[in-house]
Amino acid sequence: MNSEVRRAAEVLRAGGLVAFPTETVYGLGADASSAEAVARLYAAKGRPADHPVIVHFATADAAFSFARDIPANARQLAERFWPGPLTMVLQRSAKAKDFVTGGQDSVGVRVPSHPVAQALLREFDGGVAAPSANRFGSVSATTAAHVLGELDVEYVLDGGPAEVGIESTIVDLTSGVALLRPGRISREEIEKALGVDVKSADAASPRHSGGLERHYAPKTPALLVAPHQLDAEIAKRGADAAVLAFSKPDERVDYWVRMPKDPNAYAQKLYAALRELDAAGRGTILIESPPGTAEWTAVRDRLSRAASPVP
Ligand code: TXA
Ligand code: MG
Repeated sequence: MNSEVRRAAEVLRAGGLVAFPTETVYGLGADASSAEAVARLYAAKGRPADHPVIVHFATADAAFSFARDIPANARQLAERFWPGPLTMVLQRSAKAKDFVTGGQDSVGVRVPSHPVAQALLREFDGGVAAPSANRFGSVSATTAAHVLGELDVEYVLDGGPAEVGIESTIVDLTSGVALLRPGRISREEIEKALGVDVKSADAASPRHSGGLERHYAPKTPALLVAPHQLDAEIAKRGADAAVLAFSKPDERVDYWVRMPKDPNAYAQKLYAALRELDAAGRGTILIESPPGTAEWTAVRDRLSRAASPVP
């Protein structure tokens, strides 16, 4: 892996794109200080240019060099959760250019824990802008094969299946503490670490594409179905349905993925399962709704966006 990491860092230095594993999902990386490299990144993803991108670093000190007026809360969260699946939105420093902030005065920074991501970031020794390695709006990639199947990239580092499986928790610290995107690190854990209430994102919060109603979505229309309605929905569609559910497969349906009852295990499996059911090419993906409890917040967030009606 060492020579591959060195090669990947060279590709980044030359302005190229490298897909790499993180503990959450695979990222599509570019040199965060190069306008040309970041433009190439947006083109590869098919992403609108005014959307901000998360910048990844090997250490908290490096991450904070892209920010100014760093609040004590940010340092505390870094101490507690970095390296790990947390992104902080902070007031930007001069190092965070318009082409990574979407022209906003804030920047999203993260220190991932995956050993291959860490090795790459240390070797590169700078900020790596990295959105999830998928086409804009579609399901994130949790394996190297997912990336290769959908993006044109110069180099892919394979670090095995992502452990968390859904994108990082995003906390906005530009005024108070607000949750922009739920993830493995929960609101409750952040509140406990800081001893303050965490607000929800509102209209004044920085723009973020994960906040779009339809995002993380398969091509097949997906429908969220309450457990007691699953049988009736299957009866209505028969073999035209593909199903993601907690219960055992039903013989009327050819494409069925049975999901774990533990929220972390469910999240880990989610995107591969959605990709598999999408590839089946049925008319509808029926998704059995998970429980309404706090531990399922991040999974419910991704499912409700995946299952939003096609506009
Ligand atoms: O787990 C993750 O966060 C993965 C891995 C690769 O690190 N990355 C990821 O990136 O999910 P992306 O670009 O697919 O989603 C990043 C989210 C977007 O909703 C983006 O708009 C938001 O973070 N974001 C980035 N910088 C921001 C900023 N300055 N203000 C508000 N939102 C920001
Ligand atoms: Mg994404």
